[in-house]
Amino acid sequence: MLKVVVLVSGGGTNLQAIIDGVKGGVIRNTKIVGVISNNKNAYALERARENHIPAKCISPKDYESRDVFNEKLLEAVNEYEPDLIVLAGFLVVIPPEMIAAYRNRMINIHPSLIPAFCGKGYYGLKVHEAALARGVKVVGATVHFVDEGTDTGPIILQKAVEVEQGDTPEMLQRRVMEQAEWKILPEAIHLIANGKVHVENGHAFIENL
Ligand code: GAR
Repeated sequence: MLKVVVLVSGGGTNLQAIIDGVKGGVIRNTKIVGVISNNKNAYALERARENHIPAKCISPKDYESRDVFNEKLLEAVNEYEPDLIVLAGFLVVIPPEMIAAYRNRMINIHPSLIPAFCGKGYYGLKVHEAALARGVKVVGATVHFVDEGTDTGPIILQKAVEVEQGDTPEMLQRRVMEQAEWKILPEAIHLIANGKVHVENGHAFIENL
């Protein structure tokens, strides 16, 4: 059974997709053992509690320095003894100690087709604003392992979504979530839980696809 900790900052619709995936059997051999938010008002925490998943807030605001916050975050994650950390809209820079401790055991969902619209400053709605400003016709989402760079780790799954005439950033964000994020994030977890993903020379490979 793959033990998963999900890190969140906001609404938690991706967390919900994981919860539903586990319940509905799309994700097998997986248990969500904890949810951690950096923001005590995140609706994601409510979703966790409603589903009887242990949830806690570790906020930088509660600690005297970033180093102490980083330490507390890693401690909180370690307490759940996870096999996999899932960043599901977690808008915090991941401490290097955590990246090293969970190499190839931490994944992130990013709302673009990496390497487009990713890296520093590209998160949440900003990604969709940038895509519309550039006038691209196809966008999408990516699930990747987390390494030391921003959105640079081995890519596991990607899914494309079409831009439609008259899209606002909010409309595009919603379509990317519905058609891509909520599908490929549960799918990636299922593949990892069932031993189908391995990393070699900085690239992720999937068996039997
Ligand atoms: C999602 O669109 C996710 O891809 C994005 O934040 C949103 C969180 O929504 N993540 C990033 O931009 C990371 N760089 P949610 O809280 O409803 O899952």
